[in-house]
Amino acid sequence: MHPLEIGGMGSSLDDLFKRVLSAKIFVNRDLLRPDYIPEDLPHRETQIKRLGAILAPALIGSRPSNIFIYGVPGTGKTAVTQYVLKKLDTEGKNNGASLKIAFINCKHDNTDYRVLADVCEQVGERVPFTGLAVSEVYKRFVKLADDSKSSIFVVLDEVDSLVKKAGDEVLYKLTGVNKQLSRARVSIIGITNDLKFTEYLDPRVRSRLGEEELVFPPYNASELEDILRKRSVASFYKGVLGAEVIKLCSALAAKEHGDARRALDLLRVAGELAERNGELKVTEDHVRRAQKEVEKDRVVEVVKTMPLHSRLLILSLHLLEKQSGNGGTTGEVYEVYTGVSKNFSVEALTQRRISDLINELDMLGIANARVVSKGRYGRTKLVRLSISDRNLRDALQEDSRMTSYIGK
Ligand SMILES: Nc1ncnc2c1ncn2[C@@H]1O[C@H](COP(=O)(O)OP(=O)(O)OP(=O)(O)O)[C@@H](O)[C@H]1O
Ligand SMILES: [Mg+2]
Repeated sequence: MHPLEIGGMGSSLDDLFKRVLSAKIFVNRDLLRPDYIPEDLPHRETQIKRLGAILAPALIGSRPSNIFIYGVPGTGKTAVTQYVLKKLDTEGKNNGASLKIAFINCKHDNTDYRVLADVCEQVGERVPFTGLAVSEVYKRFVKLADDSKSSIFVVLDEVDSLVKKAGDEVLYKLTGVNKQLSRARVSIIGITNDLKFTEYLDPRVRSRLGEEELVFPPYNASELEDILRKRSVASFYKGVLGAEVIKLCSALAAKEHGDARRALDLLRVAGELAERNGELKVTEDHVRRAQKEVEKDRVVEVVKTMPLHSRLLILSLHLLEKQSGNGGTTGEVYEVYTGVSKNFSVEALTQRRISDLINELDMLGIANARVVSKGRYGRTKLVRLSISDRNLRDALQEDSRMTSYIGK
């Protein structure tokens, strides 16, 4: 049973609170959360220096180049950018240079309007949440920028979300804005973990944004260990982490394309599991259990944001699983999928497309596809869903038509 599922038993709740209160695991768990920017970012010295060098001209009133930053998830792109800009801002204040920074998360602000309105607001003028034409908001930004007589940095973090949703119009405008400015300078910093999105970019936008490029390579296991060790000093009580705990978190996250976010999540969740059980030490066993939890959250998140046909395909795989207990061939999957599409009154994709989607699910660890020999009938691909009914229900819960298909 999940420690928090107490079903009205007040005394269990009291016990849980007591255990948490008496467990001396975390000094400050917030220091492990993804949005906390640490003072020290080991193994990113090269990137910090390069970014610093590219941005430094702002301190003496020259326009820094635009920068395109990329690397797989959890490699410190957001953290390093925020870190360097914060230092630059302090330096600017100490030296009377006028700097302004707008940090936009394009996953959140994924329309031209929202990006421009948010940039205006962060530079110093509120723009109505809706109601103006995009061109009007842009005009206001140009005026605001020029009147500020500043060096302005516009960071477009997760810029792929914006381009996929709204195209590259706003990037085109923003990377060309300096032509319209006489007293201010704007530099654009675009960050992404999805290099493929540059295919959607107009080549002119691509080259304007990529005046400078900065790559963030994945961390290896020993680099992750250094990162966790540093961050655990202030967040955990001394001596509560078992000898191999940090090593294990790092090894597991290194396999997951060197993702520091994953490593930190594992460490934090392992600590929380120990805390809830009133244990005094975090062990490798806690880490392994943490991995299951973190993995579950990831799968649920991924499936939730998938397009309709991928979700219909997942549902089809689930139905096949219920029928046969061991998945089905690609042909069988396609048959079930066309039936499900019909029930949802949508036109089925071609078998070719579904084949691609199956490979994608396989890569994401949501399904498992393997080629098996069928004796003299040649070879065929067997596909199985690899997530539990419970996770599937969590992931599809917003769509009651879908969840009605999933058994208890
Ligand atoms: N060198 C480092 N030292 C300490 N913490 C780090 C380091 N690199 C990354 N982190 C931490 O790991 C987490 C993920 O880093 P960050 O958010 O910067 O990744 P990202 O490259 O922006 O990933 P994404 O592409 O998913 O946005 C954050 O909590 C960050 O503080
Ligand atoms: Mg990021």
